Order: sequence, then C-alpha cells, then structure tokens
Amino acid sequence: MLRLAGAVLLSAAAYYVYLPLPSGVSEPWKLMLLDALFRSFMQAVRGQNLGSLDHSHVIEARSSPAVNVTDSALGGVPTRVFRPIGGEKLKRGVIYFHGGGWALGSGRMRSYDSLCRRMAEDLDAVVMSVDYRLVPEAVFPDQYYDVLAASRAFLSTEVLEHYSIDPERVCVSGDSAGGNLAAAVAQKLGSDDTLKVKFKAQALIYPVLQALDFHTPSYQQNQAVPILYRPVMARFWLQYLGANSSLEPLLLANNHSSLDESGISADIRSKLNWTALLPTKRRKHFQPVVKQTGSPGVVGKVPGLMDVRASPLLAEQDVLGKTPKAYVMTCEFDVLRDDGLMYARRLQDAGVTVTSDHYEDGFHGCMVFASMPVMSNVGQRSMSNYIHWLDQNL
Ligand SMILES: *[C@@H]1O[C@H](CO)[C@@H](O)[C@H](O)[C@H]1NC(C)=O
Ligand SMILES: *[C@@H]1O[C@H](CO)[C@@H](O)[C@H](O)[C@H]1NC(C)=O
Ligand SMILES: *[C@@H]1O[C@H](CO)[C@@H](O)[C@H](O)[C@H]1NC(C)=O
Ligand SMILES: *[C@@H]1O[C@H](CO)[C@@H](O)[C@H](O)[C@H]1NC(C)=O
Repeated sequence: MLRLAGAVLLSAAAYYVYLPLPSGVSEPWKLMLLDALFRSFMQAVRGQNLGSLDHSHVIEARSSPAVNVTDSALGGVPTRVFRPIGGEKLKRGVIYFHGGGWALGSGRMRSYDSLCRRMAEDLDAVVMSVDYRLVPEAVFPDQYYDVLAASRAFLSTEVLEHYSIDPERVCVSGDSAGGNLAAAVAQKLGSDDTLKVKFKAQALIYPVLQALDFHTPSYQQNQAVPILYRPVMARFWLQYLGANSSLEPLLLANNHSSLDESGISADIRSKLNWTALLPTKRRKHFQPVVKQTGSPGVVGKVPGLMDVRASPLLAEQDVLGKTPKAYVMTCEFDVLRDDGLMYARRLQDAGVTVTSDHYEDGFHGCMVFASMPVMSNVGQRSMSNYIHWLDQNL
C-alpha cells in the first residue's frame, strides 16, 4: 500500500501540480491524487492487460463477521453476493451495477466490494454486485442484456426465496455507467406487466444518460476537471456503442446532433433540451451548442446514440412514469451533472417521486472512491446520505 501511495504521489507531483482545479471542489489535492491513480489505471487498461490488472485490484471473497461474501451467478452473469449474517429473517435486496465507462471495473474491486459490504451491513440487505461483460469483449447491447438477465433472475421467486429477500423491498442501483444500466433496467422492468415482483426504488449515482449533447453546461464547465474529462466520456460512449473512435471530434463538436440531422425529431430534442429542463442556477452563463449544419447520418450509422436502452434520458414520459421512486445523486464538478439533473426533472414531470441529492463540492467518482486510502470528505458524506436514503425508502 505504501509503495502504491508513493507511486501515486510521485506521478501526482510530476504531472498534476499545475492542474487547474475549480475553487469549491472538495479537497483538491486528494482529487489530484485520485486523478493520477485513475490515469495510471486507464493507461494499464490501454495496454490491454486487463486480465492481470483486474486480478491485482480485486479481493478474494471472504466472510467477515457481519457479512457473508460469496461469488455466484445471477441469470448466468457472474455476481458477488453480500449476505448479512443474523438480523431480520426477511432481508431487503439491492442489485448493484458498478461504474467504469462500460469498460472498466468489477464488483470484486476493493472500492465496490467495500461499498456493498457496508450496504449489506447498514441496511441488513442482501446486495448483489453484477459483473456484466465489458468493452472490448462486449459492446452495447451486451452489457444491457447482462444486467437485464441478472435483474430478472434477482426478482424471481426462486432467488428471492433462496436468499430470504422481501419481494416488497428490492432496489436497483448503480453509479456512472452502472447508473446508466440501472436506469435502463428500471425502465424496461417498470413497463413489463408480466413481472410479479417489481423494484421498489432506483438509486442512480452520477449516472450517464445521453450522448447527443456534449455541450450541456456541466460538460462545458467541467470539461477539464478530473477524473472524467469530456473527451474521455465521448470515447467511452463510442467504444460502448461499437462505433469508430475517429468519430470523437465530431461528437465533441455536437456535429452528430446538428439540426440538419433529420433522424433526430423535435420530440427527441426536447427530452434533453437543458434550456428548458435545467434551472437558471445550473445553466449559468452557458449557451447551447446547436449546429445548423453538421455531420448528418452519424446517428444512422451509430443507432445506439438514439437507443433508449443506451440513453435512458430519451425515454417517453409514460415509460418514465412506470419506473419506481428514485434517488438521483449529482456532483457540481462532473460533466455528467446535467444528465442526472435533467433525468431527475423528467422523472418528476412523469409523476415519479424523486430525491435529487446534489453535492456542490462533489466530483465524478467521489462516492465510490470514498472507501479508498485517499479518502474524500464529500465521498464519505455522499455515501452516508445514499445509504440513509435507502434505509428510509426501501
Ligand atoms: C456463507 O455462505 C455460503 C454459501 O451460501 C455457506 O456455504 C457458508 O456456510 C456461509 N458462511 C457463514 C459463516 O455463514
Ligand atoms: C474508422 O474510420 C477511419 C476514418 O474514417 C477509417 O480510416 C478506419 O478504417 C475506420 N476503422 C474501422 C474499424 O472501421
Ligand atoms: C428548448 O427549449 C427552449 C425553451 O422552451 C426553446 O426556446 C427552444 O426552442 C428549445 N430548443 C430545442 C432545440 O428544442
Ligand atoms: C462539423 O460540421 C461542419 C459542417 O459540416 C464541418 O465544417 C466541421 O468540420 C465538422 N467538425 C467536425 C469535428 O467534424
């Protein structure tokens, strides 16, 4: 651990001393360290040595006094299961999807493992952390189908009975790309009238929800704020949707959603029209970037850009209205802030009870990285509030 901390410090000192951070962000120097760590992680992944890297970052399943942790499968998808020992006979249930741009991460990683242990313990809940397939082995809709299959299995009488889960108290949750998958699953299963058991709640942590506008005020404001830089998010999207990475500059210019793109109707545009969906306080001085002429045809070539299973913000109001009570966590210093704020607003407009929990000093990833040695105050706070919300609402 010391060696790792030393390496992180060194690279932070070497590269990020002059990183301009916005005033108001929680504990800036810790964010720089985290950024250094995240960048070396990304670099290792770029080296395509994901297998061995994955191994060094995961921890073996083991039993702690309060929670029994085992590796299992749900609907054929590998899943780490956290079961509280003792407590009430019937437990609450949470299915969790980790973040990492649909390309990184695992429920077995230390940070996710710690989060799920704590949820299991504090909530007396059975928590299932799903290891859906990742880019580059899998692209959309594989990730979506994996979490959907796992969710259907989770809600089955067989699994609920086996784990003594109360069918009235089950929730779907996830962060970042996992929040995207959780929102998509909540939509699909909310509209499925054949299901006997439905989710009681959806808890979305700084979710990514759309890929048509890379110039929302939060994308503009935070384009150079660690750890999720604007071009990195565009790259994650292109890889997830199986598209050519040479489209990146075009996406960043909003050329794919120019007005001469007839594939995007006015109705679709209204679903992410932030001049109407965001309060003035968040719009600030930022202006929409809407090209009259751009690069029409891209959404035809990359249909995932318009697919609600990839972009839950584009869903119809009646679909949103059938989703469960929602918790949406957003951070001021995050390019995805407005994705989450717009979604919270659209859910509310559709009649869903929404708790919108915004952190003025938060940054992307803060909650999950709260359990790392480089702890962040806003991370700890947000994790407590998230678990508190679940305690009150599940
Ligand atoms: C943990 O769960 C596994 C699998 O259900 C079971 O075999 C084991 O006995 C459990 N351990 C404890 C300490 O309850
Ligand atoms: C990606 O696009 C570039 C530029 O248009 C092209 O040269 C390349 O062959 C494409 N790659 C794939 C895998 O289609
Ligand atoms: C967005 O909403 C505003 C305010 O309602 C409206 O003036 C504008 O035309 C809309 N833009 C688009 C692209 O729909
Ligand atoms: C965006 O579209 C405009 C108009 O077609 C074009 O001039 C410009 O080069 C495009 N930009 C990118 C990055 O593709």
